[in-house]
Amino acid sequence: MRATGCFFFLFLIFFSSFSSYFSLPPSNAEASFIAPRQLFTLLRDGDLPDNYVSTLNLNISFPNPRLKGPYIALQAWKEAIYSDPFNTTKNWVGPDVCSYNGVFCAPALDDPNVNVVAGIDLNNADISGHFPSELGLLTDLALFHVNSNRFCGILPKSFSNLKLLFELDVSNNRLVGPFPECVLSICSLRYLDLRYNNFEGELPDKVFEKDFDAIFLNNNRFMSTIPETLGSSKASVIVFANNNFTGCIPSSIGKMSSTLNEIVFSNNFLTGCLPPEIGMLANLTVFDIENNLFTGPLPKALAGLETVEELAIARNNLTGFVVEELCSLISLKNFSFSHNYFNGEAEACEPRKRGDIDIDDSNNCLPDKTNQKSDKQCKAVVSRPVDCSKSKCAKSSSSPNLKPQTPREQPIEPESPEKRSPPPPPPLVESPPPPLSSPPPPSPPLVQSPSPPSRSLQPPSDPYPAAPPISENDVVILPPTIGFQYASPPPPIFPGY
Ligand SMILES: *[C@@H]1O[C@H](CO)[C@@H](O)[C@H](O)[C@H]1NC(C)=O
Ligand SMILES: *[C@@H]1O[C@H](CO)[C@@H](O)[C@H](O)[C@H]1NC(C)=O
Ligand SMILES: *[C@@H]1O[C@H](CO)[C@@H](O)[C@H](O)[C@H]1NC(C)=O
Ligand SMILES: *[C@@H]1O[C@H](CO)[C@@H](O)[C@H](O)[C@H]1NC(C)=O
Ligand SMILES: *[C@@H]1O[C@H](CO)[C@@H](O)[C@H](O)[C@H]1NC(C)=O
Repeated sequence: MRATGCFFFLFLIFFSSFSSYFSLPPSNAEASFIAPRQLFTLLRDGDLPDNYVSTLNLNISFPNPRLKGPYIALQAWKEAIYSDPFNTTKNWVGPDVCSYNGVFCAPALDDPNVNVVAGIDLNNADISGHFPSELGLLTDLALFHVNSNRFCGILPKSFSNLKLLFELDVSNNRLVGPFPECVLSICSLRYLDLRYNNFEGELPDKVFEKDFDAIFLNNNRFMSTIPETLGSSKASVIVFANNNFTGCIPSSIGKMSSTLNEIVFSNNFLTGCLPPEIGMLANLTVFDIENNLFTGPLPKALAGLETVEELAIARNNLTGFVVEELCSLISLKNFSFSHNYFNGEAEACEPRKRGDIDIDDSNNCLPDKTNQKSDKQCKAVVSRPVDCSKSKCAKSSSSPNLKPQTPREQPIEPESPEKRSPPPPPPLVESPPPPLSSPPPPSPPLVQSPSPPSRSLQPPSDPYPAAPPISENDVVILPPTIGFQYASPPPPIFPGY
């Protein structure tokens, strides 16, 4: 069902092009569609040639010349839309692009007397279609929000022309292809939200070398190791969940101690021992590695997670003793270490003794407790402790280029993949997941501080606080604060606007 829309849509594109060429002479309207269609079919990566000339009739007068490019872009986009159930783009007609639904203008950064297209917000419009490369003509754009639509195809290479882009949210669509490298050449980009699409393949090293403040990669089809460059990131939130990542957590993770607030690795195929460097993350509030293949004992250094509220390590093959230092961490609210092979826990870790926090120790190898694994299951793992000092994962790795692990680094037991529960299936578009809503009301500029993010990964069925839709009478000053997905105070607004 999910693919049908896209196939049908592409079919229409080809059909209309061919019929225009080979049967009747094209009408003016049809003729004006051919060029963009060809552009789409010829330049598969969505690049926009420098000498691009629109075939639209541009004998119209624009409020100012800087709205001409956006006009071409938005008309090409409208043509690339196959279904628009709420008629969102119905008023995308004529030269006054600032009045189009979902299009927001603001005084240009370099000339306050000129209004330019500074933001696009089509969140939750349920539109199906694709992104034409002409979107690269929206060169004054600071914000591009299209979450919860049905856009398919790729993110065109021409997005690298959007030099002022600050927030890119394409979450919960049907985008495909490798990680969209074009976003890596946008220097101003801070918020990158690709979650709930079908991006696949490897993560480029450069993702963690950009100044992104939030990186959402969850619920795609990424399949690679996590680049050793991870530690170079200045992001406050990074979410890897629900992909097919393999290999270790790079020990460079400790380098993010002054900025990292949440990191979520859940539902992947990560292996090895946990690097002690995790314990250096003194500002972390969420550390989630649930449902992976981690082995070995918990590093003592984990007690350094002084501000951690949510510690989720359930459903791995972890062993050893859960120490008091961990269970008595001062900010801890939720600590699940169930479905592992722990064979001892400090008194402070017993669920009944800690009414103030939620601890789950079930399905381990804890002696004299109920809800534990059988002796037989436990013996197989507990009797063969993993020596993490011999694990490449837990040691500082100097190799920048993590390749799939050699067998030596693999945990003692051979894996039995059939016993693992696979990552949850991608959400149905009918029940859209977390990504969210429209911009919040404008707020005064805030001091520059790393954003205090919220839980970024919710199951699709979870309620998520949605901002009220923009009513036509609202005066919207753009761009709004970034981080509208965050429940806590938003990070800084786009400098300049
Ligand atoms: C442009 O439009 C104006 C008025 O709408 C018309 O007089 C003029 O001939 C047009 N020019 C071209 C080149 O089509
Ligand atoms: C969209 O427009 C069409 C045709 O004008 C109309 O039939 C339909 O009810 C409109 N849909 C919505 C959600 O307004
Ligand atoms: C991070 O933690 C360090 C030490 O705990 C502290 O000095 C610093 O201010 C914190 N940074 C932020 C952004 O919270
Ligand atoms: C985890 O434990 C299970 C059950 O003993 C075992 O089959 C599997 O191979 C182990 N996986 C790893 C990565 O150690
Ligand atoms: C990811 O892993 C799941 C579960 O093993 C598998 O079904 C799926 O095909 C994998 N995805 C990719 C892109 O390889």
